[in-house]
Amino acid sequence: MKLITAVSTWSLAAGAGTVLSGTCKDEYAQLGAKLSSTAAIYCPGTAEFQAGSARWSVLSSPRVNVVIVPGTEGDVFETVQFANEKGLPFLAYSGAHGSITTLGRMDHGVEISLSQLSSVTIAPDGRTAEIGGGTLSKTVTDALWAAGKQTVTGTCECVSYLGPALGGGHGWLQGHYGLVADQIISYNVVLANGTLRTVTDKDDLFWGLKGAGHNFGIVTSVVSKIYGSSQKGWAIETLVFSGEKVEVIYAAANEHLTKNGTQPVDVINWSYWYNDPSTDPNGPVIAFYIIQEGVTSVDQIYTQPFRDIGPLSVQPASGTYQDLAGWTGISNSSTPCQKAGTANPRFPIYLREYNATAQKEAYELFANATRGDSAFNNSLFMFEGYSLQGVRAIASRETAFAYRGDNLLVAPLITYAPAGKTLDKEAAQIGNRLREILRKGSGKKEMHVYVNYAYGDETLENWYGSGKWRLERLAALKNRYDPQGRFSFYGPIA
Ligand SMILES: Cc1cc2nc3c(=O)[nH]c(=O)nc-3n(C[C@H](O)[C@H](O)[C@H](O)COP(=O)(O)OP(=O)(O)OC[C@H]3O[C@@H](n4cnc5c(N)ncnc54)[C@H](O)[C@@H]3O)c2cc1C
Ligand SMILES: *[C@@H]1O[C@H](CO)[C@@H](O)[C@H](O)[C@H]1NC(C)=O
Ligand SMILES: *[C@@H]1O[C@H](CO)[C@@H](O)[C@H](O)[C@H]1NC(C)=O
Ligand SMILES: *[C@@H]1O[C@H](CO)[C@@H](O)[C@H](O)[C@H]1NC(C)=O
Ligand SMILES: *[C@@H]1O[C@H](CO)[C@@H](O)[C@H](O)[C@H]1NC(C)=O
Ligand SMILES: *[C@@H]1O[C@H](CO)[C@@H](O)[C@H](O)[C@H]1NC(C)=O
Ligand SMILES: *[C@@H]1O[C@H](CO)[C@@H](O)[C@H](O)[C@H]1NC(C)=O
Ligand SMILES: *[C@@H]1O[C@H](CO)[C@@H](O)[C@H](O)[C@H]1NC(C)=O
Repeated sequence: MKLITAVSTWSLAAGAGTVLSGTCKDEYAQLGAKLSSTAAIYCPGTAEFQAGSARWSVLSSPRVNVVIVPGTEGDVFETVQFANEKGLPFLAYSGAHGSITTLGRMDHGVEISLSQLSSVTIAPDGRTAEIGGGTLSKTVTDALWAAGKQTVTGTCECVSYLGPALGGGHGWLQGHYGLVADQIISYNVVLANGTLRTVTDKDDLFWGLKGAGHNFGIVTSVVSKIYGSSQKGWAIETLVFSGEKVEVIYAAANEHLTKNGTQPVDVINWSYWYNDPSTDPNGPVIAFYIIQEGVTSVDQIYTQPFRDIGPLSVQPASGTYQDLAGWTGISNSSTPCQKAGTANPRFPIYLREYNATAQKEAYELFANATRGDSAFNNSLFMFEGYSLQGVRAIASRETAFAYRGDNLLVAPLITYAPAGKTLDKEAAQIGNRLREILRKGSGKKEMHVYVNYAYGDETLENWYGSGKWRLERLAALKNRYDPQGRFSFYGPIA
C-alpha cells in the first residue's frame, strides 16, 4: 500500500494503521491498513493527487479530498465500505473525460481511481475477453489487435472502455456488432453497499447497466464479446469546405450517405466545424470525413458528390483500423486527450437526418459566436454518422439505452479557458441555442440526448427516453440497488 501525503512518502505494510500527517485525514490510514500492497492513497498537495484528480473538462467538475487507487477488486469494495462508514461521498474515475455538469454536485469525498484495474485477457476459445474496469480504449484495441481480434470500443483512445459502455457506447465497429454495451455478457460490480456482485442477463440490473450504468455501481471488470479482426484495412477522404457551402453539403450527406439510416455498414461519415483562420479567415471551416472499411481509397460513389461541391482541399489516406483515431483527431497524442484546464461542455442531440436549412442557421450562430478572437474560438461542432446495422439489430426495449432509432449524433463542444460564471452562462446559452435550432429543424418535440455527451441541465426523459416504462424501471432498480443515492453524480436517476 503506497500512501503519499504532502509531507512525505511511506510504504505501509497492510495492517500498519499509520497516522497521517499532511492534508489527509487520519482516517485514511485505517483504510490503508485494509488495502492490498499495490493500492495507493494520494493526499492533496502532492503531484500524485494533482495528476490523479485532473480532468478533461474543468466546468462544474467534482471536488475530492483524497485519491484512492485500488490495486485489486477487493480494494474497491473495501474503499466503498469505508466511505459509507464515514459518510463520505465517493466517485469512480477512469479516463476522467466525463464532463456532465451534474458531476459538480460532488463537493467533497473520495475519488476511486480505477487506473490500476487495467487489463485485457482473451479467453482460450477466443470469443470473449475479460477487461478491467479502468482499462482505456486504446489498451483494449491494441491488445486485441495484437491477437488478431477486435471489438466495439469508443473511438477516442484516451477515454476509458467502461465510461462509454455505461451510457451505451458508440464506436467505429457498431455497424457490425452494436454498441459497446451490447458486447458485454457479464459485469463484476461493487454495489452501493460495498457488496461485489457478478451481473449477467439473468439479473434485473443487467438491463440498467446498459445505458444508465453510472447510477448503479462501480464496475471492476467485464466479460465482453470479441471477434476475429478482418485486418482488411480502412480508407478515409477528408474534404475541407468553407462555411458558405453548409446547406449543399448536408443536403448531399442526406442523399448520398445517411440515406435515412440505411448507410452501408462499411461507411462512416463524420464532420467537424472549427476555426482555422489560415484556411478560411471568414469563419469556421467544415471538415467532412468519409471513412470506408475494406478499401484502400474511399469509393467515388460516396466522395464524388462532395468533391463536386468544391472543397478547399481533399486529402485521401489509407491504413488500418488503428489509424482511425489519428485521422479524426482523437488519438492519444491529439488535443482532446490532453488535460489542458479548459471548460468543455457539449450540448448533444440525436437526429434522424440533416435539415440543410437548420444546419445553415446553426452554422451562422456558431460562426458568429466563435470566430475571430472570441473566448470560444477553439470550439468544435461535431456531427457523427456511424453505420447502424448492429445497433438496430437489438430491440430497443432490451437495454436502458433508449435511442437505437436515431441516425446521427450531433453536438457543439464549446471550449474555453474558464473565467467565471458570466462566461459559463454565455457558453451554455450558445450551446443550448445551437441545439434548439437543430431540434426545431428535426420537426420533433422530443429532444434525444446521449447521456455521455450531455451538458447536465437536460431532463431524465432526455437522457433515458420518454417511454414511461423506462423511467419506472430505472427508478425501481435505483430503489433496489442504491436507495441512498450514492451513485448520483453522473446523469442521476434520483
Ligand atoms: C474526446 C472525447 C471523445 C469521446 N468519444 C466517445 C466515443 O467515441 N464514443 C462514446 O460513446 N463516447 C465518447 N465520449 C463520451 C464518453 O463516453 C464519456 O465522456 C465518458 O463518461 C468518459 O468516460 P471516462 O472513463 O473517460 O471518464 P470518467 O470521468 O472517468 O468517467 C465518467 C463517469 O463514468 C462513471 N464510471 C467510469 N468508470 C466507471 C466504472 N468502471 N464503473 C462505474 N462507473 C464508472 C463515473 O460515474 C464517472 O463519473 C467521448 C468523450 C470525449 C471527451
Ligand atoms: C495514452 O496516454 C496516456 C497519457 O496521456 C498514458 O497514460 C497511456 O498509457 C497512453 N495509452 C497508450 C495505450 O498508449
Ligand atoms: C453520411 O452522409 C450521408 C449523406 O451523405 C448521410 O445520409 C449519413 O447519415 C451520413 N452518415 C453519417 C454517419 O454521418
Ligand atoms: C425513414 O425511416 C423511417 C423509419 O426508419 C421511416 O418511418 C420513414 O418513412 C423513412 N423516411 C423516408 C423519407 O424514407
Ligand atoms: C452575432 O453576434 C453579435 C454580437 O457578438 C450579436 O449582436 C448578433 O445578434 C449575432 N448574430 C447572430 C445571427 O447570432
Ligand atoms: C483565438 O483568439 C485568440 C485571441 O483571443 C488568438 O490568439 C487565437 O489565435 C484565436 N484562435 C483561433 C483558432 O482563431
Ligand atoms: C427544417 O428546418 C426549418 C427551420 O427550423 C423548418 O422550418 C423546416 O420545417 C425543417 N424541415 C423539415 C423537413 O423538417
Ligand atoms: C447489498 O445490496 C444488495 C442489492 O440490494 C443486496 O442483495 C445485498 O444483500 C446487500 N448486502 C449487504 C451486506 O447488505
